[in-house]
Amino acid sequence: MSSDPLANKAQAWSALFSEPMSELVQRYTASVGFDKRLWRADIDGSLAHAEMLAAQQIIGADDLAAIRRGMAQIALEIESGRFEWKLELEDVHLNIEARLTALVGDAGKRLHTGRSRNDQVATDVRLWLRGEIDRIAPLLSAMQLALVELAAQHSETVMPGFTHMQVAQPVSFAHHLLAYVEMFARDAERLADVRRRTNRLPLGAAALAGTSYPLDRERVAKTLGFDGVCQNSLDAVSDRDFALEFAAFASICMVHVSRLAEEIVLWMSQNFGFIDLADRYCTGSSIMPQKRNPDVAELARGKSGRVVGHLMGLITLMKGQPLTYNKDNQEDKEPLFDTVDTLADTLRIMAEMTSGMKVKADAMERAALKGYATATDLADYLVKKGLPFRDAHETVAHAVKVALQRGVDLAELPLADLQQFNAAIGDDVFAVLTLRGSMGARKVLGGTAPAQVLAQVARHRARLAAG
Ligand code: ARG
Repeated sequence: MSSDPLANKAQAWSALFSEPMSELVQRYTASVGFDKRLWRADIDGSLAHAEMLAAQQIIGADDLAAIRRGMAQIALEIESGRFEWKLELEDVHLNIEARLTALVGDAGKRLHTGRSRNDQVATDVRLWLRGEIDRIAPLLSAMQLALVELAAQHSETVMPGFTHMQVAQPVSFAHHLLAYVEMFARDAERLADVRRRTNRLPLGAAALAGTSYPLDRERVAKTLGFDGVCQNSLDAVSDRDFALEFAAFASICMVHVSRLAEEIVLWMSQNFGFIDLADRYCTGSSIMPQKRNPDVAELARGKSGRVVGHLMGLITLMKGQPLTYNKDNQEDKEPLFDTVDTLADTLRIMAEMTSGMKVKADAMERAALKGYATATDLADYLVKKGLPFRDAHETVAHAVKVALQRGVDLAELPLADLQQFNAAIGDDVFAVLTLRGSMGARKVLGGTAPAQVLAQVARHRARLAAG
């Protein structure tokens, strides 16, 4: 019998096991192929645990020194690609622990005192995710800033605002872009909230019930930068709601990205022609020589599907799990990893692509002139002349009908004809019927008037600069 229990998989658990795992079961249950990505969090967590064990005199100072030396060497081996990951050692935790013991002997075997892989893996995933959250937060800010800076140039650029995909009222392109900034700002708030609940320490929960060793959990939390410790050991090893929350945040954020991507695809089409994208974000067709396709935007839209899928996967994974740790939880990693990667790449590429977008202001304005976008303004004008709004609405509907029959805009109807609909109409009406008159009139807080929009630009700039 080997003196190193981790050296031989048949012996990995205890002398209790009398036959080795089949090759299929080994492959099926192993996670090292993907969870090795957690290696740095695993080492950091182990070092904090060991330091506390030594401080509490549960292990010797010499053990701690040996563990530190071994872990430093392991980190070098992993970074340089020399570390030999072994499938038969199942996961990142057992691989690192086995290597530590091979390097430093008994001190390596003392590391796991007062700890279980159950609280270890929960700690690793939280630590890792916190780091990723801290990388994603600036990407979300950069996405917002790209839109804010583009908006700053377009407070006077008129485009049709749509409801039901029908021309509704004129809005500025800046105002439209800033709507997405609001969405991404809320996403950033959600992310900060997820971070708060992710940043709590499970270690000390051990397998499920806590441990009889006099661990100092607060000390480990402090070392690892956690804001606090999980207060119930059963919950600490069992729940993954922080991962679900992250996936929910990411799904909502990707849905926002997807809506913007969809608009970019539409705007780039010949029928809209509102924008153009740089060649480097487009691809051609192997058969149609004239084609430039907005593939990046289409993919960003498409990738929202996989992120939402991961949320469904993670929620379903949790459902029906009795307390406490179950191996099901090993399935949390791949969806979480892919969610992080997909979201980070998507935010990066979308920020880059949108800030370089070529805006075709003339085409936007022409489109805004098409659908009687200022009809509401005529109704509002009549209300100011004393008509009840419902009557004004009806009057304007008649005017639009006539304009449609003649194939002209409302502003192209002669004053005498307009006065047929209501005698109160004077020649001051034409200022109201222009796109810019309409836009400029919407001065209410949050409205599309250029002064409002520029105030919003300033607010966002200040907010984003403050971090
Ligand atoms: N690889 C496992 C996971 O990802 C580590 C925890 C395993 N614990 C256990 N008792 N089997 O969840």
